[in-house]
Amino acid sequence: MLKRLKNWFKKPLSIREEQLQAENIPEHVAIIMDGNGRWAKSRGLPRIAGHHSGMKAVKRITMAADRLGIKYLTLYAFSTENWKRPKAEVDFLMRLPQEFLAIELEDLIKNNVQVRMMGYKEGLPDYTLQAIDEAVEKTRHNTGLVLNFALNYGSRMEVIDAVRAIAEEVKAGRLESAAISEQSLDGYLLSKNIPDPDLLIRTSGELRISNFMLWQLAYSELWFTDVYWPEFMDEHFYEAIREYQRRARRYGGL
Ligand code: IPE
Ligand code: IPE
Ligand code: MG
Repeated sequence: MLKRLKNWFKKPLSIREEQLQAENIPEHVAIIMDGNGRWAKSRGLPRIAGHHSGMKAVKRITMAADRLGIKYLTLYAFSTENWKRPKAEVDFLMRLPQEFLAIELEDLIKNNVQVRMMGYKEGLPDYTLQAIDEAVEKTRHNTGLVLNFALNYGSRMEVIDAVRAIAEEVKAGRLESAAISEQSLDGYLLSKNIPDPDLLIRTSGELRISNFMLWQLAYSELWFTDVYWPEFMDEHFYEAIREYQRRARRYGGL
């Protein structure tokens, strides 16, 4: 089993083999990577071991997304509510971008991946920001997969900030309130310059959105699995996309 997976990493994906339609690959896949703690607990390990193992899944699914020709992969890594967790766990999570990028940045550069961050920089430790800023800077001209880390991200705060910024524009006489549109609001969100997700995946069996991309998910296809994030494999990812390809997206029409 492991051996087979290893081979998959190396060979280019055969769409036919995975029964995926090459012409209907979602452009933007967003993932709520959940269940690290429960995965660890089920193995008698500390929660942080789950976060560490989850990093490998990030690498695995980034590679799979790249092979499939997905254009944007957004990964929910830390929410604005996750600060409520014990300090030791938060500290560990804040070290992960640095650790991940120290190992993977070279490979990401080589594979033409563009790293971005979607979230609030305020409150993040310097070492976390430095690692992310370096990755963003070194990959900014890459034209392949956009790997978008939702870090210190919260959608209600994002909407409040957008409303505030728009209110300021109106107050200053630069914008007519009647001119506020879906498109113009999009431009004030942390996700500006990224199309709405076509497919949202949440692992670990939780059936909720947890303050993730509330505006942007209006017409996304949702797919949930009981699998914990550290054990989320390429096969699960293909299964989600196969299911996506079976759906009829109507956007309120017929
Ligand atoms: C997801 O796993 C990672 C983050 C939220 C940072 P959890 O840490 O939420 O794991 P569970 O849900 O407690 O199992
Ligand atoms: C959502 O997971 C946030 C991330 C995956 C980063 P949580 O584990 O924080 O969500 P709740 O608390 O179960 O809603
Ligand atoms: Mg959780």
